[in-house]
Formats: sequence, structure tokens, C-alpha cells
Amino acid sequence: MDALYREEILEHYKFPRNRGALQHPDITYKDTNPLCGDEVQIDLSIKENRVTDVKFQAKGCAISQAATSMLTDMIEGKTLDEIKQLGKKEILEALGIELGPVRLKCALLCLKVLKSGVYGIKEWPT
Ligand code: FES
Repeated sequence: MDALYREEILEHYKFPRNRGALQHPDITYKDTNPLCGDEVQIDLSIKENRVTDVKFQAKGCAISQAATSMLTDMIEGKTLDEIKQLGKKEILEALGIELGPVRLKCALLCLKVLKSGVYGIKEWPT
């Protein structure tokens, strides 16, 4: 089972969905994994409280990039309220493998960036 998920992670890493930047995003947020300095930026276009477009730029390991790619797939068409309901469970289910504490930070960086952008907050409580 693990091998299947690993393959999917590699697939998202090699062929990320929604990579790039939006010209005029309604929400944009970038943050860093304090453990390694890797970065994720997510841009969102919002219409009537719903995500109409999403792009990301990321510099980091396979887990962080794959998780970000999966998350952007997950949120297209979702309302901001639905995004606020997303938690680490959804990311970890999408990745589908057991992660230690260091890798957990890699996996959850995208969620931290997304939520910080959507809530409009500068600092995410750690
Ligand atoms: Fe930097 Fe994973 S090692 S985000």
C-alpha cells in the first residue's frame, strides 16, 4: 500500500499540478519551513467567496512539493469557509504515508501557507 502512495507522491513531485503564479491574485501568501528554509507560496483567485484559480511556487523536498500540489488540487472550487475547515488530516490522507515529526513540517507547510493567506494573518501559531 505504501509503495502506491509513494508513487503518487513522486508523480506530484515530478509533475506538480497548478505550479506557477497568478497575475493578479486576490490572496497570496508565502512562508518558510523553519527547519530547512524551504518555501511555499500560494496564490488564489476568489470569486463569490470561492476559489476560481490557484497556483503555487515552492522550493523544497518531494514531500512538501507533492503535498502542495495535492492541496491545490483539493481546493479548486472550494469556498473560503470550506478551506478553513481543512486540517492536517486531509493532507496526511492524501499523502497516505506515515511521517515523522520533521517530515510532518514538510507536509504541513502548504496548509500553514494556505490558512495564513485565507485568514489574512501574518504569523501562524506553531
Ligand atoms: Fe524542506 Fe521538506 S526538507 S520542506
